[in-house]
Amino acid sequence: MSLTPSLKPLALAGFLSLATVIAGCSDSAYQSSFVYSQGTLSLMREAQDGTKETPGVKKLLDDRFGDPQHLKAWGKLPVDFGGTLTSVEEVSESEPGNKIIKLTVEEGKSLPMKAGSVKFVTGACSGESVQVSKWNAETGEATLAIAPSKEIAAGDACAVDGGTVLSSGRMLYMRHCSHCHGTSGDGNGPTARYLNPKPRDYRHGVFKFTSTNDMSKISRDDLSRIVKYGIPGTYMPSFLLMKDDEHHAIIEYVRFLTLRGEYERKLVAELSSDFSEVAYDSRLKAGEKKPEIQSELQEYLAEDLKESASTLGDELAEIWSAADTEEAAIVPSMPRVTDTPESRRRGRELYLSKTLNCADCHGIDGAGNGPQTIAFEKNPQKANELYNEPGLHDIWDNLNQPRNLQLGMYRGGRRPIDLFSRIHAGIKGSRMPSFKNTPHEDIWHIVNYVLSIPFESDPGATAIAPSAAAESVAAPALVTAPTPK
Ligand code: HEC
Ligand code: HEC
Repeated sequence: MSLTPSLKPLALAGFLSLATVIAGCSDSAYQSSFVYSQGTLSLMREAQDGTKETPGVKKLLDDRFGDPQHLKAWGKLPVDFGGTLTSVEEVSESEPGNKIIKLTVEEGKSLPMKAGSVKFVTGACSGESVQVSKWNAETGEATLAIAPSKEIAAGDACAVDGGTVLSSGRMLYMRHCSHCHGTSGDGNGPTARYLNPKPRDYRHGVFKFTSTNDMSKISRDDLSRIVKYGIPGTYMPSFLLMKDDEHHAIIEYVRFLTLRGEYERKLVAELSSDFSEVAYDSRLKAGEKKPEIQSELQEYLAEDLKESASTLGDELAEIWSAADTEEAAIVPSMPRVTDTPESRRRGRELYLSKTLNCADCHGIDGAGNGPQTIAFEKNPQKANELYNEPGLHDIWDNLNQPRNLQLGMYRGGRRPIDLFSRIHAGIKGSRMPSFKNTPHEDIWHIVNYVLSIPFESDPGATAIAPSAAAESVAAPALVTAPTPK
């Protein structure tokens, strides 16, 4: 078992201060570049690599996201790259050596009120950070305290007061997260194979434990909660001791990796039905000619793919930004129903009912052993072949056991509102479905019932409940629930 050595860097990392770590040195044990997805690698070679005239999937990705050593900031994406992303419109000099640059922002965005420094993200000065001695927030004119070592040109991108969030996010991620989640966020770091459930592969853009409704992405607050407190009952650790700015940087970096992965998946999805190696072979077998397919691909790359490369960015920006708005949040239409024996009984009825049928997966007593856990499932991703192990599977193709509700261990949080969200929105990517059409009152009855399950089989268990109550918001209601008059 090499689990212990693999986990060591995590323990050590806590004692190292950020300042002592030189960018890149912690990466050496892991991949130093991003990997392309299986989907990309199964495309026809020209679709992957493009041709002289038109970029393929790999170049489209590299141009927008760079690689871990040279990250790129694609202004369109809802990621906080640090500071305000601007571009240089004009360069002038008030007296020799006294450089003034006029900065503009993308339409719809505004210039910051203060500017202490600018960091160049592209151009000859890329990577250089320069102090600003005077700033005009109206015109966007920044007087630089010293001239950078190289020539500044119109069109160069620079971040005002920032540009470091992403690079420090990367550094922290490589140290604390990558040995499980992988350099590219593919969930495939060196430690991953020993773990069950597997570390999340971010690239699907799907996260399980959200406070947002079933069709929405995960919010920043949710990501923040998960990284702070970890996921109980799994190997996802808690990073409670991390400083606020480090915490923020890591979350933005997770979003960056997620968006890169999702962007790649969507590009591949457009190409794979006609231009994967497998599709190519069967088209040849069906009598199509090689040059015809290749010129069709050429045309596709030059027109359709080029267009979707830009519209996909807008789409992603829109859905990810929407997740942080009020509309995406699950808000119960009524407060929690008082936890009474009647409410629990009603909850149990609903739990067993034919319409909700929680028992089909979780079992009649909530032990996580319903009939669906012993049936063999079809795999829709593999022409409906049966899986060779019984039970349910999630979108990452891993065995997905319904939770044993007798243990009282909830991965998405144990407050009643957390369980409300879990039932309302389901657990995304897993086989726990959304029950969003169930009246909110009924969901609260079910929550009351579910929270009572751990204490049900053994009536004596209520005696030990107060200790559980000390660490839980949910538990007091179980102990002190008023008996109706
Ligand atoms: C020891 C391995 C390990 C380390 C280190 C680790 N994770 Fe995880 N992480 C996991 C596992 C396992 C899961 C999946 C749990 C599940 O599916 O219930 C997970 C899940 C997640 C999720 C998904 C939550 C959801 O609702 O879907 C996020 C986000 C995440 N981790 C972020 C991080 C970040 C950021 C770091 C570093 C600061 C990190 N993890 C470090 C193992 C790890
Ligand atoms: C089709 C199968 C299926 C059905 C039906 C189902 N669940 Fe689940 N449920 C699961 C699976 C699978 C998980 C674990 C998902 C994971 O963590 O990846 C789960 C997890 C849970 C959890 C754990 C939440 C947490 O934070 O850890 C609760 C609570 C739960 N289900 C309650 C219910 C209730 C109540 C119903 C009926 C209203 C229900 N489930 C119906 C499959 C199902």
